[in-house]
Amino acid sequence: MSASILPRGASRLACAVSLLLASALASAQLATRPPVDPLITPDASGWLQTHAPNHRIDLHNPFFQSLGSNGRSCNSCHRQGEGWTISAAEVQHRFDVTRGLDPIFALVDGADSPRDDISTLAAREKAFSMLTSRGVIRVGLPMPANAEFTLVAVDDPYGYASAAELSLFRRPLPATNLIWDSAVMWDGRETFAPFQPPMDAGLDMEDIRSSLSSQALHAILGHEQATVTPDQKTLDAIVDFESHLFTAQVFDRAAGILNEGGGMGGANILAQQRFWIGINDALGNDPTLEPFDANVMQLFDDWRNPRAMSSLDPHARARAAIARGEQLFDSMPINIRGVAGLNDVTGQSVIRGTCGTCHDSPNIGNHSVGAPLNIGIADGSRRTPDMPLYTLRNNSTGETVQTTDPGLAMLTGKWADIGKFKGPNLRGLAARAPYFHNGSAATLNDVVNFYDTRFNIGMTDQQKSDLVAFLSAL
Ligand code: HEC
Ligand code: HEC
Repeated sequence: MSASILPRGASRLACAVSLLLASALASAQLATRPPVDPLITPDASGWLQTHAPNHRIDLHNPFFQSLGSNGRSCNSCHRQGEGWTISAAEVQHRFDVTRGLDPIFALVDGADSPRDDISTLAAREKAFSMLTSRGVIRVGLPMPANAEFTLVAVDDPYGYASAAELSLFRRPLPATNLIWDSAVMWDGRETFAPFQPPMDAGLDMEDIRSSLSSQALHAILGHEQATVTPDQKTLDAIVDFESHLFTAQVFDRAAGILNEGGGMGGANILAQQRFWIGINDALGNDPTLEPFDANVMQLFDDWRNPRAMSSLDPHARARAAIARGEQLFDSMPINIRGVAGLNDVTGQSVIRGTCGTCHDSPNIGNHSVGAPLNIGIADGSRRTPDMPLYTLRNNSTGETVQTTDPGLAMLTGKWADIGKFKGPNLRGLAARAPYFHNGSAATLNDVVNFYDTRFNIGMTDQQKSDLVAFLSAL
């Protein structure tokens, strides 16, 4: 039951909150426009809600101030309406409105190559093609010293990448729901505790602050191109701000208000979610030794029984679809094969799991321990012509592998870590397409199709659309 994963008393509070919200939203819902509430913004399938202290976003926080030399702030790439990241559509819109002159369009890491010509509108259209089409930023990292592998070939359509600096195109991660991170950054490189297999314990609450503080420092020096190191007070203010944000979908155009009729969607309920590093870990890393509960997502349990809903309810069908999608997430069998970080670490060539095996944090959906995994998103076989492709050779075996992003291996230099990334938080997805570290899935439908193909699940169209309905409601 939903209540069991929330702190005691939370479900009652949640009901009170949802009642309040329900009445506040009811009239606005008729207009299908979000209510005038600074914490609610429209998105692809409804409305997104952010929960923040005192029910306001503190726009005076240094998060919103330009702290470097290029006019950017954290808010250039982490925006409330896009789930505190960016979406490709919003960036394209920003490009059109500003003729590619908004500060996000900076050569340093906004352009396909930092050597691009950006002197004319036409030149900028070309130079920022990855940012506008996929919502990705160019993370430039050098080949690690003493790596177990050598870079033997670079095929960079933008003519820049080399061993001195690989161009790795990555989506900004949401700067919200951060207190549940078990690793910071796609490759965990800002994680204060080591983010390495086998399944390290990851962060505790102290570590998360240190990790986020170090992350903010690097963002100011890097993305914002500051020439003066910001003081600790500024960093602390940013970390305080972002670590008190919680974000989730609160209204779905088809299903209505998501925390009504027993639904537990929305950011206010999310903010009360119980969590600790290792909670409900599928591989037995929960320090409390509580066994893994496959019902990872329990937000819409009450919508599973159609009889509980009046047939006159215009939302009944859509709610039933979301509830079926949640059930698929929790119970649809997936034969997990060939996932480095999982099959090799456990010594099992096939793990009979579910979506929740890897997205195991209850109602949050990231991995509750730092678990870098290679599910194949960066594989050479999935490369599209707009992505750089790197060929790496194993120094001892001579084996080669092609990848668009070596992921964790860029930090550890380990062959086994090539292509490993963290499983991100799954809340507020509808506001922040495209998906995966490189934005290779344009829609949630593409995400589901990826899994269906990658793991030979054999989903029906109905199952796919139910799962998409559920993911859109997160
Ligand atoms: C130019 C765009 C850009 C700017 C400006 C920017 N970021 Fe980011 N942010 C990114 C990208 C890209 C990533 C993911 C990079 C990776 O994982 O390799 C990221 C990741 C993060 C993460 C990691 C979240 C997680 O769950 O792991 C946090 C937190 C964050 N940024 C906060 C900030 C803060 C605070 C600022 C301002 C000081 C800032 N960012 C400025 C692009 C940006
Ligand atoms: C074997 C582990 C594993 C399984 C099983 C798995 N995932 Fe993932 N998931 C990941 C990892 C790792 C990533 C990040 C991959 C990357 O970007 O390289 C991810 C990313 C995602 C994302 C993108 C989030 C974002 O912010 O871009 C979504 C959505 C998602 N998974 C949903 C699902 C669903 C739905 C299922 C079940 C059909 C599922 N996952 C099964 C490991 C897994």
